[in-house]
Amino acid sequence: MDRYAVIGNPIAHSKSPQIHAAFARQTGQTLSYEALLAPLDGFVRAVEDFRAEGGRGMNVTVPFKLEAFALSTRHTPRAELAGAVNTLAFGDDGILGDNTDGAGLVRDLIVNLGCTLGGRRVLVLGAGGATRGALLPLLDCRPATLVVANRSPAKADELVALFTPHAGRAALAASSFDALAGHGFDVVINATSASLSGALPPLPSGLYAPGALAYDMMYGRGDTPFMAAARTQGAARVADGLGMLVEQAAESFTLWRGVRPDTAAVLAELRRQLD
Ligand code: ATR
Repeated sequence: MDRYAVIGNPIAHSKSPQIHAAFARQTGQTLSYEALLAPLDGFVRAVEDFRAEGGRGMNVTVPFKLEAFALSTRHTPRAELAGAVNTLAFGDDGILGDNTDGAGLVRDLIVNLGCTLGGRRVLVLGAGGATRGALLPLLDCRPATLVVANRSPAKADELVALFTPHAGRAALAASSFDALAGHGFDVVINATSASLSGALPPLPSGLYAPGALAYDMMYGRGDTPFMAAARTQGAARVADGLGMLVEQAAESFTLWRGVRPDTAAVLAELRRQLD
């Protein structure tokens, strides 16, 4: 049987085995998918062992996405720009590294939430790995404006410089949180890790244009702190990142198996378990 796994530290909480098992059942694919805990200093060894035992591919999560990038012998263009890899595919000729996080985000926004990105004003909060993974797929949707705002503005400047060659006609710009005052956006995406500590990016009021969507890459039971704040600040719609989780998994599954699973039922079941 073809073997796959998600590798991280910690890993016990991962929903990926459940998601991929559901995809496999649904598409009639025979495969196994397990969760692997790697020691913090033992990522490469764990991947090599899994591959030597016949593993076909892996998902990679915190804190190993940069090491997975380094270990890959080839990268997809989106992984190359992200500088991080969440999907490994093992072949006879080496290891392909992909990054499906941003594509998962965009698919959740467009397909699941019915959100238009083309021609819209999009704001991404944060300039860490999560933002870096999302920028190319977002730019590919041809927004009118894409602003990256960060607590440390220099990091937003760096990302904007890196992605400007890929911006097409989108106005790609960096900002501090304060300098957002007076600007309105149609889609605001929280890609900071602030929610992990229950904190909120300090945002000026008036950020949400009429009809705007506030999207948090984090998820949990009920509203995240960012979602709750966005509602009071005037966002017309809010969404968490559970759909992104399922969609990035579907992208990986499609890369490995050549067949795209239907995510709706899997997402609905995860949502039911969370509520
Ligand atoms: P990830 O891979 O999840 O993006 P990261 O690369 O460590 O994690 O980046 C974390 C991001 O969240 C950064 O943009 C960070 O801002 P700084 O670059 O200024 O550190 C942002 N962040 C974390 N905690 C935050 C908070 N309390 N308020 C605002 N931004 C925060």
